[in-house]
Amino acid sequence: MTSLDTNRFAHRHLLDIARLGAGDINQLLDLAESYANLSRTPDKKQSILRGKTQINLFFENSTRTRTSFELAGKRLGADVINMSVGSSSVKKGETLIDTAMTLNAMHPDVLVIRHSDSGAPHLLSQKVDCAVINGGDGSHEHPTQALLDALTIRRRKGRLEGLTVAICGDIQHSRVARSNIALLNIMGARVRVVGPTTLVPSNANKLGAEVFYTMAEGLKDADIVMMLRLQTERMQGSFVPSIREYFKFFGLDKEKLKHAKPDALIMHPGPMNRGVEIDSEIADDLNISAISEQVEMGVAVRMACLDLLTREGK
Ligand code: CP
Repeated sequence: MTSLDTNRFAHRHLLDIARLGAGDINQLLDLAESYANLSRTPDKKQSILRGKTQINLFFENSTRTRTSFELAGKRLGADVINMSVGSSSVKKGETLIDTAMTLNAMHPDVLVIRHSDSGAPHLLSQKVDCAVINGGDGSHEHPTQALLDALTIRRRKGRLEGLTVAICGDIQHSRVARSNIALLNIMGARVRVVGPTTLVPSNANKLGAEVFYTMAEGLKDADIVMMLRLQTERMQGSFVPSIREYFKFFGLDKEKLKHAKPDALIMHPGPMNRGVEIDSEIADDLNISAISEQVEMGVAVRMACLDLLTREGK
């Protein structure tokens, strides 16, 4: 089988959303849509990436991103290697660059990297000969998350343009928020960020988001409510008085959701902290929650990224 999209993709790497245009995003989402349909058929295995090598290099923990990149590569027929950082020579002091040069000598076609340092995928892309995909770097960007969120919204609402999207919680430390704000602006959605003053960056409106400090105001007539967890792994010190108080003011429950549109869609990139940023009653209500569909779309979007970025002549 040849790819379901034969047009050239204009980029060698996927490092952030900021470098993409609306045409690139539509191309990725259209191809991902066809991979989503394919993934629901009994025979999911393709041979588009037969003979290609994909290395997943995760310096930070992951369930969804790592598993879905592995599944995406295997579904397209690639040889997929998950480098276990914990048992690698990184533990003996080998640097990121030396690790990259070592892997590069094995002629991979694509490297997927997650790293706690913002900019690590960009640095890597300058040192290797293959495509590099950012699987999340520090608090900078998580481009495939924004793409899978966009695909989920497009499937549920039929469009992105003109929708009001409220991104709520720990905006300050969130790479998901940054990538989503960038993508949704490119695609013509209205973006709001909602959270306590300690967790909303002072430059949020310069990024293209309207800032709100209460859920009542931020959720008013929203089409999409996207909840984020408190990213304690990137916090130094305390940003909220207590979890109980945080949930009271910023945790999404049925009462606060009444401010959004009656058909508002609830999203969360995961991992979720139930009872902290979201109530289980909301998260598990399949009529309003798209959280499982986001995970499903993650595989489809990553198949599209791997397909487009590993084409000959790049
Ligand atoms: N949303 C997301 O990146 O999840 P993981 O950390 O499990 O990959």
